[in-house]
Amino acid sequence: MFSIIVAIANHFAIGKDNRLLCHIPGDLKRFKQITAGHTVIMGKKTWESLPNRPLTNRVNMVITDIEGEQLEGALMAYSIEDAVNKADKENENFIIGGGTIYRQFFPLADRLYLTRVNKDFEADTFFPVINFEEWTLISEEPHPEAFSTEGFDFNYQILERKKNSIL
Ligand SMILES: NC(=O)c1ccc[n+]([C@@H]2O[C@H](COP(=O)([O-])OP(=O)(O)OC[C@H]3O[C@@H](n4cnc5c(N)ncnc54)[C@H](OP(=O)(O)O)[C@@H]3O)[C@@H](O)[C@H]2O)c1
Repeated sequence: MFSIIVAIANHFAIGKDNRLLCHIPGDLKRFKQITAGHTVIMGKKTWESLPNRPLTNRVNMVITDIEGEQLEGALMAYSIEDAVNKADKENENFIIGGGTIYRQFFPLADRLYLTRVNKDFEADTFFPVINFEEWTLISEEPHPEAFSTEGFDFNYQILERKKNSIL
């Protein structure tokens, strides 16, 4: 199965200048815990944006249009279909960005791990608009206390796609 994990600010903003919009203490730790031992699937720009690559203790699948390209430490895929075929059939696969990959995998994803950041950022990369009526909220963990240190609050949410939502 495919799950998406993403930090989304107001207006579905997720990135600017090939960087994240903010660094939330604890969010990277949560990302690591959730994705540990799994396959993570990303576009090449997100791969290039990683400070340390590959991400340890995970199969790093990188999607590129450049047929035959190999990147050290990555399992390569040359289309979305190729990535689907090379994904782990028995386990949860995590789509970790960026904008182009989220958009293409969104219809295939059954679970969303969101970090909802309550702040307006200038951005050039966006997540597709989520119709929350098509998703069931499984859990949430608000962090109002972050406002005093970060200048914004945030909320960890897990959502699952309602079974009858794509009819
Ligand atoms: N907020 C978050 O949680 C989060 C998470 C991840 C990333 N981000 C942000 O998102 C931004 C990067 O996203 P992005 O949309 O610019 O780039 P991206 O999705 O990471 O990568 C785009 C690249 O992926 C490859 N690609 C995409 N679709 C493909 C397809 N169907 N077949 C083959 N290759 C394909 C192409 O690589 P080639 O050019 O090599 O062909 C394309 O240039 C950054 O700002 C990053 O910080 C945010």
